[in-house]
Amino acid sequence: MISIAIDGPSGAGKSSLAKRLAAELGYVYVDTGAMYRAIGLYALRAGRNTKDAAAVAALLPDIRLDIRPGTGSQQILLNGEDVTEAVRAEAVGMAASDVSAHPAVRDYLLATQRGLAESRNVLMDGRDIGTVVLPHATVKIYLTATPEARARRRLAELLAKGQPADYDTVLADIRLRDDQDTHRAVAPLRRAEDAVLLDTSDIGIEESYALLKKTVQDRI
Ligand code: DC
Repeated sequence: MISIAIDGPSGAGKSSLAKRLAAELGYVYVDTGAMYRAIGLYALRAGRNTKDAAAVAALLPDIRLDIRPGTGSQQILLNGEDVTEAVRAEAVGMAASDVSAHPAVRDYLLATQRGLAESRNVLMDGRDIGTVVLPHATVKIYLTATPEARARRRLAELLAKGQPADYDTVLADIRLRDDQDTHRAVAPLRRAEDAVLLDTSDIGIEESYALLKKTVQDRI
């Protein structure tokens, strides 16, 4: 089985590039961020403090996640409800970052994530895929861009969706998430030693895609 691990900070264009590449290669796309987001969403709905490890861990027995991976897309069900769209909200992203710092949450998701890569070719996107989830992945990519470049792209996306947003707030959110994701004790965001570094700060989406595709195709 071939596995492609793509890690990097939020807003580097990972998921749109990864989805597209998975579709083109005919691989199953696994979005691990959506799993943390679903747990974050559940904790928010339950009115829990997402930073409270014990409070979040206590919810896990009540959570059943059903991941339906597809070629170039993934559906996620939370206790039977399709939350694929609901988990994309900004507030859920921050809740996901909070809950992802708790070891119980990471343990809870690890077996599911590994299981998805066992019997098929996958392209898995996250923060710790190359370092923890699939340390023997066929190809590892660390896709990144400066916080400013990521904030500019995120702002354009939000405005295009008609959501009110300003650059300074978006940049502050990105910096906060980077800080949380890279400084947590368990499975922090970092580049695996054998991951290829791709920096998309100064290139557009098409050029980024071409670079990613070539980097992967040269190695599989
Ligand atoms: O990629 P994303 O923005 O959907 O991820 C949401 C949060 O989930 C992110 O801030 C950190 C966490 N996450 C993680 O800790 N490990 C992963 N493999 C994927 C996401």
